Amino acid sequence: MIPYVAQMIFDNRVTRLLGVDIPIVQAPMGYIAKPPLVAAVAEAGAVGLVPGSLGIDEVRDDIHRTRDLTDRKFGVNLPIAFVRDIKIVDMILEEGITFVTTSAGSPEKLTKTLKDAGLIVFHVVPGLKGAMKAVESGVDGLVVEGSEGAGFKNLRDVTSMVLLPLIASRLDVPIIAAGGMADGRSMAAAFSLGAEGVQMGTRMVASLESPVHQNMKQAVVDAEETDTMMINQHNGKPVRVLRTESTAKFELSLEGDPMSLLGDILALYRDGDINASLPQLGQVAGRIEAIQPVAEIIRQTVAEFEDTLGKLAHKYLVDAPV
Ligand SMILES: Cc1cc2nc3c(=O)[nH]c(=O)nc-3n(C[C@H](O)[C@H](O)[C@H](O)COP(=O)(O)O)c2cc1C
Repeated sequence: MIPYVAQMIFDNRVTRLLGVDIPIVQAPMGYIAKPPLVAAVAEAGAVGLVPGSLGIDEVRDDIHRTRDLTDRKFGVNLPIAFVRDIKIVDMILEEGITFVTTSAGSPEKLTKTLKDAGLIVFHVVPGLKGAMKAVESGVDGLVVEGSEGAGFKNLRDVTSMVLLPLIASRLDVPIIAAGGMADGRSMAAAFSLGAEGVQMGTRMVASLESPVHQNMKQAVVDAEETDTMMINQHNGKPVRVLRTESTAKFELSLEGDPMSLLGDILALYRDGDINASLPQLGQVAGRIEAIQPVAEIIRQTVAEFEDTLGKLAHKYLVDAPV
């Protein structure tokens, strides 16, 4: 593993609450966020998340295997709709996990239990109403997800550019921005809109430590910014995916059930058959030009974040004509 070298110092509510150095979160992608990826993110000083969508035993096993690869902190994502056994909370506590993100369900379901257990909780929200409800239920922070991101989305889609300043202006909890984050420029933009951290999904798919087939990683690199689309709105479960031969027929269609393709997700992730299932990718794929090691993604993002802020300050503050 590339040795971790401290760069600029981040000291904000996200780094303090999660106990990490760099407020960059690897998205909790089912089947993709496996121990080598989560550990590489943690080793780089950032926030690795183990997906909690699979059963207690698989999650415990992933925590153990991640622990074998790093002694740095990492968290767990609990997708509420998929939590079949509440004992998962005791398990992650026993395993020494100190923070979780919750998603895919009402924050009222688990927040009190998680907070009473002493965990730090950030809840994933696609809109202001959901954010207010989460804060009312006692979360420590929010993952605010714009509709340009990959995966399942809100029926009423709003982008990060609008959502972040809206929620930051109404609620005083730390925000992690998700949707369209891939480098230091997008991170600087998110921070200027009120975020104190960023979550990356699509960017991490095309990382060296990501376990998906080379074809899926190359699809991220080859994609243009217009190559993803939202489908399945007519079934009430919009999802942003890459337009492929098999998904194109669902674009602007009020028929069919794209969810039926989800059953073959491993034929896509493991065997590389891009038409076998739903390649959940975000619009930011159009800005990703190379498959890189996680440590390099994190190091470059922090360096570019610092450079972007520095240049802006110089151009418009320091060197601005008086
Ligand atoms: C391939 C893939 C699979 C994903 N699976 C999940 C999932 O299982 N649970 C979840 O909460 N989010 C999932 N997401 C969404 C991410 O958590 C994240 O919020 C989103 O990717 C952010 O937008 P971005 O793709 O522009 O970075 C997935 C994203 C991708 C790219």
